[in-house]
Amino acid sequence: MRGHLSLREEGEMRLRLLISREEIERRVRELADLINRDYRGKNPHLVGVLTGSFIFLADLVRLLTIPLTLEFVRVASYGAGRESSGEVKLLLGLADSIEGRDVLVVEDIVDSGYTADFLMKELARRNPASLKLCVLFDKPSRRKVPVRIDYRGFEIPDVFVVGYGLDLAGRYRNLPDLYALEEE
Ligand code: IMP
Ligand code: MG
Repeated sequence: MRGHLSLREEGEMRLRLLISREEIERRVRELADLINRDYRGKNPHLVGVLTGSFIFLADLVRLLTIPLTLEFVRVASYGAGRESSGEVKLLLGLADSIEGRDVLVVEDIVDSGYTADFLMKELARRNPASLKLCVLFDKPSRRKVPVRIDYRGFEIPDVFVVGYGLDLAGRYRNLPDLYALEEE
């Protein structure tokens, strides 16, 4: 039996399967292959962005064979809604110095771009040896500020998505597949 449903009814909400766990797994493996190749001989420091990237980062790092360290930061922009306020704050900063490190930021999704833009500028000020961005889901049609993405999993249309770490007001992060949220 398949572990996922193509359509879930959740009261007024419908969740339509957009990207299956198998497709995600395949793509994460491809990204890991690229990162293993690009960072050969290096010792990168991965910075995951809480909370949405926790599943992606966990899956990704287990496919990386290079020596690495990792930690999480938390930023706030969304609150409980679906639109970015454009005002981003660093709520949980880096514990370790990243000076001279090859830093790879791991994000779940880039939408308006405000969060990634803010975070990359914040980290760049701390003099890393290199600074790159790895994003699993990209919604380029929603961009308000340009963001340079070094590793991109999937380009997705302008729909609100949940699952594989992504939430709506805190819910659905645990769904293993990616769903588009549709209102009835
Ligand atoms: P941005 O600042 O507008 O690019 O938004 C980035 C953050 O908003 C992401 O890290 C997510 O936490 C959240 N976000 C953006 N789009 C979605 C979505 O479709 N589903 C769930 N969270 C999203
Ligand atoms: Mg996020």
